[in-house]
Amino acid sequence: MLKPFLIVPVLAFPVLAFLSVPAFSQDAAPAPATPPAASPMRSSVPAEYVNKVNPVKPTPESQARAKKMYGWDCAMCHGDHGDGKGDVATDQKLSMRDYRDPASLKGLTDGEIFYIIQKGTGQMPSEGDRAKPDEIWNLVIYLRKMASGQTTASAQPPA
Ligand code: HEC
Repeated sequence: MLKPFLIVPVLAFPVLAFLSVPAFSQDAAPAPATPPAASPMRSSVPAEYVNKVNPVKPTPESQARAKKMYGWDCAMCHGDHGDGKGDVATDQKLSMRDYRDPASLKGLTDGEIFYIIQKGTGQMPSEGDRAKPDEIWNLVIYLRKMASGQTTASAQPPA
């Protein structure tokens, strides 16, 4: 009879862990005042990812999907247009880059961006298994397009 009570918390854990990520930052000590450009982002990405070539040829459909996924999973922090002014980022005072600025993702290879989206970094949660590799590569393409003002995602609840 104990079992159902044990199973529910176990199933709920990944969801709760994801939801509580922004909350952690409230308890955490204030972040050191290092400007984003100086943070050693690359060091956390394993070498075998760094030079991975994006295998995906974007189609209008796959990019429409990327736009939706961005709206569901990213815009709350990175902002509808990649400006880094999403509600969660603002509330939690996260230090965000502005993807509308072509310089902001210039220092990262596609493989590094893929790895960061899949695994998360710092205060950013991972996509993990929620996104298939092809979908993550499409997100990489979508992020790069933000620098040219070609994107208009809006935050929306999952369908
Ligand atoms: C809870 C807020 C949050 C969510 C949700 C989130 N991110 Fe992030 N993201 C961050 C923060 C904060 C950083 C900077 C992390 C660091 O350097 O410590 C970051 C970093 C990144 C980076 C590395 C370049 C940079 O800006 O530093 C990429 C690429 C990225 N995010 C893409 C995404 C994508 C795509 C999604 C959705 C699938 C997403 N993020 C969801 C908060 C978030």
